[in-house]
Amino acid sequence: MPGFELIGNEEKNNLLDIFETSNGVFFPHGFDKLRNGRFRVREFEKKFSEKMQIRHTQAVTSGTVAQVVAMHALGIQPGDEVITQAFTFVATVETILQIGAVPVIVDVDETFNMDPKELEKVITPKTKLIVPVHMLGNPASMKEIMAIAAKHGIPVLEDSCEALGASYQGKWAGTIGDIGIYSLDFGKTITTGEGGFVVTNNDSYYKFMREYTDHGHENNPALPRGKDTRTMYGMNYRMNEMQGAVGMAQLEKLDFILQKNRENKRILKSRINADKIVFRRITDENGELADTLIFSLENEALAKEFVRKLYEAGYGTKNVPDAIDWHFAGTWNHMFDNVPAYKDSWKHAWSGTAELLNRSVALPIMIHSSEEELQKQADVINQILDSI
Ligand SMILES: Cc1ncc(COP(=O)(O)O)c(C=O)c1O
Repeated sequence: MPGFELIGNEEKNNLLDIFETSNGVFFPHGFDKLRNGRFRVREFEKKFSEKMQIRHTQAVTSGTVAQVVAMHALGIQPGDEVITQAFTFVATVETILQIGAVPVIVDVDETFNMDPKELEKVITPKTKLIVPVHMLGNPASMKEIMAIAAKHGIPVLEDSCEALGASYQGKWAGTIGDIGIYSLDFGKTITTGEGGFVVTNNDSYYKFMREYTDHGHENNPALPRGKDTRTMYGMNYRMNEMQGAVGMAQLEKLDFILQKNRENKRILKSRINADKIVFRRITDENGELADTLIFSLENEALAKEFVRKLYEAGYGTKNVPDAIDWHFAGTWNHMFDNVPAYKDSWKHAWSGTAELLNRSVALPIMIHSSEEELQKQADVINQILDSI
């Protein structure tokens, strides 16, 4: 699964190097002499841009903040409608509410991502943004979503927080829309503990993001930081050098992570008897992140029984169903009870997503699993499937 499994000497040595060569300067800007010219967050951004084949990367403090920054860059205003999906992490919708925009939430399809047919139904003159989320490593149906967005002239913000390293039709997830966001929190493909990236090919979005995340600083190279120029106000969403140092070591491991994810998922999937289950539809079999194996049973009762026996046998699930309350909009009374657009209707919404999720199971794919362990897990799963 994620980079936390691989944290080791490379991350440790990169951290020590901040002390050994940069006198412990953790701040990402300024202190030029003391830091001996090393700017680790900037190096991390540059390396990520090169890897993702994208013009610009802005490092930030989390994937949640990445979405806020991206929406400001895109000029989203209070009252604008932003379309996203019912199966996602709470942050996707929290950030829309934080801006004062109106989340318009549609059902997912058998990819467990935004259903393009549902998307097209809810577009109105107030729609200012579409946010497809590549859930659990499977890129959304981007060809269809981009075509709908282009037809209506609406920008696309790809939430690739759960899909760093996945690709779709030859492009990295997160680099297909106008702006992409990633999370580097501790459960993600690569991790800096907390952290995030916003990426774009658009120079003016990038200029805005760079300044907005640093109180409006233009980082004018001709001036010391205290005399720096600014044309707008901003916030402090800066990643620090410790995160940059760890992130660079993690990024070096991305290819290995992808290779192991895909190998381990292929082994586990091929050894599960699929008579009573349907695997999630993957939009690009060569490109999925493969950090999760998802399948659906015939009905909710069977899925509950399967999961009960799976837990009894000592195996866990990933988000579905164990953390479903954080990932399905139909459980978010804490959020919607006070939102006029949802006050009376949210409890009845997204029945298609609820039906799919209630009979589905998501299993984490771990990098360190051996073939024997995967075979044992498949045997347990097959025995349970036989017994229900
Ligand atoms: C789909 C999705 N969007 C956004 C986020 C927020 O990322 P972070 O935890 O870095 O704030 C997450 C994190 O779990 C996520 O899964």
